[in-house]
Amino acid sequence: MAQPENKPLVNVAKGIKSDTYPIWFLRQAGRYLPEYREIRAQMSFLELCRDPKKAAEVTIQPLKRFDLDAAIIFSDILIPPAHMGQTLTFGKGHGPLLTPHIRSSNDLAHLKHPDVEKEMGYVGDAITETKAQLGPNQTMIGFAGAPFTVASYMIEGSGSKTYSEVKKLMYQEPETFSSLLDMLAEVTSEYLSMQVKAGAEVLMLFDSWAGNLSSSDYSKYVLPSLIKLVEASSKNGVPLIYYSGQGSTNLSKLADLPVQVLAIDWRVSLSEAASLVGSHKTVNAFQGNLDPIILSWGDEALVREKVREVLDEAKKAQIKGHIFNVGHGVLPTTSPDAIKWAIDEIRNYKA
Ligand code: CP3
Repeated sequence: MAQPENKPLVNVAKGIKSDTYPIWFLRQAGRYLPEYREIRAQMSFLELCRDPKKAAEVTIQPLKRFDLDAAIIFSDILIPPAHMGQTLTFGKGHGPLLTPHIRSSNDLAHLKHPDVEKEMGYVGDAITETKAQLGPNQTMIGFAGAPFTVASYMIEGSGSKTYSEVKKLMYQEPETFSSLLDMLAEVTSEYLSMQVKAGAEVLMLFDSWAGNLSSSDYSKYVLPSLIKLVEASSKNGVPLIYYSGQGSTNLSKLADLPVQVLAIDWRVSLSEAASLVGSHKTVNAFQGNLDPIILSWGDEALVREKVREVLDEAKKAQIKGHIFNVGHGVLPTTSPDAIKWAIDEIRNYKA
């Protein structure tokens, strides 16, 4: 008979105690690894995302080096807009660019709802390919951007400091704005289901730019489509992690968001986050929240001290479960040794 599943990340996300502390790092695959740079020298980032075998290979790279509990599929939150009628490019020296911009109801009318299985099936194939290479206790994570954060890129066409165009559409054409978010919620819901069918055991939604809104605007303009998406993805039967980037403004608004894990950055401590969220019906765990820059510039003693600080905070917060992670993506300047020290500190932590 097959052994019962014992996956620390899945267990903690479901509210089941685990003897092993679940550990993974946002952007654990990427440019800080020489073996990743070697593959990137031969193909572009998007070619890599669209090649299931190569995407699986880079997804697994960090798991070969480090004692990690999960793999997150190598892809990007801007893949869906690239199938909805926008052109996505990643140039040298700048972040992603999406054209044409979506800034009116006329622009919105030109977007299409893609055939997710057919056009984006390569992401599912990469998940299936990766999962076959995981150890028995390792978890396969699928992901997507949350509607507001993806819409921000679609409207601005790139990252932004002020989100001026996003807020312009939001305030001047609220119906267009909410139709765009609802359309993204529908496409993303199908996209996440496809990932679960392909083998994803946990899903993560990235709302990296949600912290740019006041908490009342967040409730009014962002939460409705987000709740629709989260409710639809609950039907997949796998735990959902929601990441609200850039601080604490929205944490107090999340009491009714039916997710199992809340991921936070380092701008609030785990105990502050837990008290801001307050009582919550579905959250079993918090994920985070080491400042990733420490893994670039900290010496061994500092890395270990800062990791212990996060673990002590998790204990103090009296949260049901904690998944160790960084509060935002691992940076290209990260030292692979620092990741080793961090993991070693967690594995030997005596609470
Ligand atoms: O975590 C992982 O290992 C999985 C892969 C992953 C990537 N992007 C790969 C990537 C994930 C989960 C993402 C999510 C993502 N993408 C977010 C949400 C998380 C966050 O960072 O807030 C956002 C906002 C994006 C959009 C994006 N993609 C930006 C702004 C950039 C450029 C910045 C940069 O680091 O160069 C990307 C490119 C990107 N996505 C890279 C990787 C590994 C770098 C590509 C390369 O040149 O090799």
